[in-house]
Amino acid sequence: MRSIKGTKLFSAKEIKEATELLREGKLVAFPTETVYGLGANALDEGAVKAIFTAKGRPSDNPLIIHIGEEEDIEDLISGRVPQLAEKLINKFWPGPLTLILPKAKKVPDITTGGLNTVAVRMPNHPIALKLIKETGLPLAAPSANLSGKPSPTLVEHVIEDLAGRIAGIVDGGQTGLGVESTVIDLSREVPTLLRPGGVTYEELLEELGEIEIDPVVKSKFADESKAAISPGMKYRHYAPQAEVVLIEGKEDKIKDKIKELITANVDKKIGVMVSKELEDSYLGSNVKIMGSKDNLIEISQSIFKLLREFDEEGVEKILIEGLQLEGLGLAIMNRLRKSAAYQIVEV
Ligand code: TXA
Ligand code: MG
Repeated sequence: MRSIKGTKLFSAKEIKEATELLREGKLVAFPTETVYGLGANALDEGAVKAIFTAKGRPSDNPLIIHIGEEEDIEDLISGRVPQLAEKLINKFWPGPLTLILPKAKKVPDITTGGLNTVAVRMPNHPIALKLIKETGLPLAAPSANLSGKPSPTLVEHVIEDLAGRIAGIVDGGQTGLGVESTVIDLSREVPTLLRPGGVTYEELLEELGEIEIDPVVKSKFADESKAAISPGMKYRHYAPQAEVVLIEGKEDKIKDKIKELITANVDKKIGVMVSKELEDSYLGSNVKIMGSKDNLIEISQSIFKLLREFDEEGVEKILIEGLQLEGLGLAIMNRLRKSAAYQIVEV
């Protein structure tokens, strides 16, 4: 086992040592199928408080509780598991879907940011599941990045942000999906999508028949997102050091607009982030390929990593190609709009 700035780095075979730290109320980052999470005992106020401190996270931004078995949700919510929740659990768990329901008394206020609801998900990753089961505790786990930075999809990202601030990190290589779980609020009359993610709106609609989409999900404006109910939606998010501009519209118009912006910014160190389909359009520029528009998972996997790479290169301004809002595109565009701090050029 290696150690970096006092933070222990565990391999998948050293999960036992990681569980011991968690049982002592310490913080351990671990891989999930979406992004790395920063775990702590969700029922231990002191441990959860330490998560907020390590991340520099505002205390009114509630955490998702991760469980190892479907039935474990019963302990964390008040009343019985509603039928709609059961339906979604059967269909999508383990997987990238977080359910919001009224919370049980035993869940500390600090975990839910003072709300009377709780967010729960069962992740679909062998290391995450093993860690939760062997620890025997529900684990509160926000993404394992410093608050405001792009979410971590590689163990190197976690080390960069949190080494020296937490007790341990379990190395699971690259995470699968690259964007976080879908968050759906089932505590309201009509199920409401609060954050798009790995399980798509279209898939949820097919199961539920009726869903509201919180306006902030598709929001292009910062002030709309301030009124958000999910407190996590109102802060600057996923943002690299560089200024980010997102160009939205039809593909050929986006292509030309990016060319125009490259020329207009010759005095700056520019980075360009586009789909494979536009790969050959900007020869001579610093171009990174997000993936193919025919395979959105390639794109969701790469966006946070590429934003961090541009920062390392000292790029000052990043121009990003916007995508359609269908399927995983909704989650990808939600993250990109936030990373651009809603600086969007429509063509
Ligand atoms: O994929 C994921 O969900 C990752 C991995 C690690 O599991 N976790 C993650 O956690 O993205 P975090 O803390 O970065 O995002 C949690 C989101 C925030 O937007 C937060 O506001 C929302 O879930 N949330 C948590 N509890 C809530 C509640 N009771 N009501 C409304 N929104 C809630
Ligand atoms: Mg996060």
